Amino acid sequence: MSAVKGKKVVIGITGGIAAYKAAEVVSALVKKGAQVKVIMTAHAMEFIKPLTLETLSGNPVYYDMFSRPGAWEIDHISLAKWADLLVVVPATANILGKVAHGIADDLLSTTIMATRAQVVFAPAMNTNMYTNPIVQENISFLKSKGYMFISPATGRLACGDYGEGKLADVQDILDAIEGYFSRKSDLKGLRILVTAGPTREYLDPIRFITNPSSGKMGYAIAAACAERGADVELVSGPVSISPPPGVRLHRVETAQEMFEKVMDIFPSCQMVFKAAAVGDYRPETCYPTKIKKDRDRLTVTLVKNPDILKELGKRKGSCILVGFAAETENIEEYAMKKMREKNLDFIVANDVTRQGAGFGKDTNEGLLITRQGEVINIPQMDKMEFAHRIIDEVIRRCPDLNQGSN
Ligand SMILES: Cc1cc2nc3c(=O)[nH]c(=O)nc-3n(C[C@H](O)[C@H](O)[C@H](O)COP(=O)(O)O)c2cc1C
Repeated sequence: MSAVKGKKVVIGITGGIAAYKAAEVVSALVKKGAQVKVIMTAHAMEFIKPLTLETLSGNPVYYDMFSRPGAWEIDHISLAKWADLLVVVPATANILGKVAHGIADDLLSTTIMATRAQVVFAPAMNTNMYTNPIVQENISFLKSKGYMFISPATGRLACGDYGEGKLADVQDILDAIEGYFSRKSDLKGLRILVTAGPTREYLDPIRFITNPSSGKMGYAIAAACAERGADVELVSGPVSISPPPGVRLHRVETAQEMFEKVMDIFPSCQMVFKAAAVGDYRPETCYPTKIKKDRDRLTVTLVKNPDILKELGKRKGSCILVGFAAETENIEEYAMKKMREKNLDFIVANDVTRQGAGFGKDTNEGLLITRQGEVINIPQMDKMEFAHRIIDEVIRRCPDLNQGSN
């Protein structure tokens, strides 16, 4: 049975050339047994007629905040309360900008502002619009506030250009909706430890050795676990992003501090995602005061940091241990070696030199490798979708996960 059966889905349609594809989404959702109500912006109606959506959804289409067919009901409030999920497909640059800035000047933007339901955007626009730093900032901001995204595809756009910005495949949109409902609380009862971000290894009180990890992948994993009902402990190195709602954040700076915090929390957890980029070495000496520029040469001796993953591998018992390997060559081989040496159950390996993966990016792609040697290729997608996909694959292979035991 489809997970969307009986669910109440509001589809918001905005004024993009891909608006006609929303009709396919509505039609497929109704066939799967969902109840669907459609809100269109005034510009969306330039592209597709409400009659099409009305017929496909079997419900009136909503577009005017001030028309009151249901006399006693205020549409933006009643739709906001009715929705189990609100999906904007396609989402224009305009609606993203409006929601990111709290603007509620039509029925769709006002309903988005008023709803407690999860809101999902499926953006579609010309590549130059999509890559415009303002649009990208709005997307990052919305993600940090818990809005979900179905990333656009790369391909030939309606305007003739080639690039990123094409609406995701209808099937991917349907999978994301289905995934949302089926995942909703599949991690309930589990305590999950996630590590994220870089570490700092101090040379003196104001200088340190670090790496470019932004923490985005680990934070996405933590957010995805929390969304799915887990009790999440996030141990994070210094990053500039906000912690996802509903997770317990433990801030650390050095590898040693991360080691101690992880070892402290780990015994009560059933699963660990170790996405932090921990410094392998630290300066042997951390000068107590600022190092002065009075020498021509300064030799720094580095000593090894404790290996957090290896120690977890030794102590893990029945805990599921998922490691990450950021590599620049021989990805699969190095990842397998790391998994064996550290007694991991899974490893996520990616080539950080690739365009769509690695430090600081909003997307990721890579391989999920199991202890048994199965290799699952995960194509480029938004880090949040990537996180859910990893969790899906991991829990599918761990039927004995002790959910509900905490
Ligand atoms: C032919 C045509 C195609 C358009 N396609 C898009 C699009 O794919 N994505 C987009 O963000 N804006 C697109 N626009 C611009 C939007 O329609 C415009 O920004 C509008 O204000 C969006 O309003 P709405 O978000 O309230 O629907 C297009 C405009 C025209 C005339």
